[in-house]
Amino acid sequence: MSWRDDFADILDADRDLAESSYYRIGGRARAFLEPRDAGETAALVAALARAGEPWRVLGGGANVLMDDADHDEPIVHPSRLRGRVEDGELVRVGAGESFPRLVADVAREGREGLETLAGIPGQVGGICAMNAGGRHGEFADRVVRVQVATTDGELRWLARDEVGFGYRHTDLPAGVVTAVELRLPFASDPEAVRGRAAEILRRKKETQPLRLPSSGCVFANPEGGSAGRLIDELGLKGRRVGDAEISPLHGNFIVNLGAARYAEVLALIDEIEAEAASRRGIALRREIRVWPAWRRPAEMS
Ligand code: EPU
Repeated sequence: MSWRDDFADILDADRDLAESSYYRIGGRARAFLEPRDAGETAALVAALARAGEPWRVLGGGANVLMDDADHDEPIVHPSRLRGRVEDGELVRVGAGESFPRLVADVAREGREGLETLAGIPGQVGGICAMNAGGRHGEFADRVVRVQVATTDGELRWLARDEVGFGYRHTDLPAGVVTAVELRLPFASDPEAVRGRAAEILRRKKETQPLRLPSSGCVFANPEGGSAGRLIDELGLKGRRVGDAEISPLHGNFIVNLGAARYAEVLALIDEIEAEAASRRGIALRREIRVWPAWRRPAEMS
């Protein structure tokens, strides 16, 4: 029996990935798996690791560019790992919860700490795995510990120091984030917390192209600089390949004007990287994850 039989209940063999992508780009997944709880996630991850083929984790789809060809690699989507448990300042949240909803809910309850991350899309697990953030803070600032379903089939709680949080980076062990525990104290001035969130959202709407599909900032900021400003200075804003465009509003966004293809977005990414390297000597680091499709060799299928 293969893992396909063991996890048939939670497997979709024909899932349109474009629907799960903020870019609205993506082919069909031939094994899209939505485990029902953390224990099942651990069993699944162990089975996939034993099978020895590549596999991936998809959170909210806010920070990935997926190939529009068919994907044979199993894709684990922890969207059913929901729920919130509170114990004073501590808030434990399932990885599949919507992050913007969490930010709004805790601000409404008068807790502070997440309002600086207002406007960042995604699911809690992905936000954690990427250490998402912006100019006002990053997710790691509030983390107490992180639960991971590891490839040896265990559920492990890692303390903040063990996660290896860096700038848009973590050193989590291979596996899937299943839950996080955050410290979110009650604010003395809850109105001020909500005001800070509203102000950050207002500024983003002014400076970022939020009406068109995209994965937000494509590149991490180079040390001491801004990728958006750099791309602007290189004169690349407004450059188009097919329906993919470097946003005229913010240089670090590549937007989908309607029917953009994976290869078109990738061509713009490559062009920006080449220009930044040749004209400025800067090696930009991709913040978004690019997912080429993996095709199972014919003899294995
Ligand atoms: N700028 C330009 N031209 C542009 C874009 C920006 O001159 O086309 C200038 C701005 O005027 C500003 C500076 O560059 O002086 C920085 O720009 P901005 O304030 O927009 O912030 P950022 O560094 O580009 C970061 C995060 C964003 C986050 C914002 C606000 C990274 C790579 N980006 O952007 O995150 O929304 O701060 O907190 O850290 C994302 O991760 O997807 C993302 C969009």
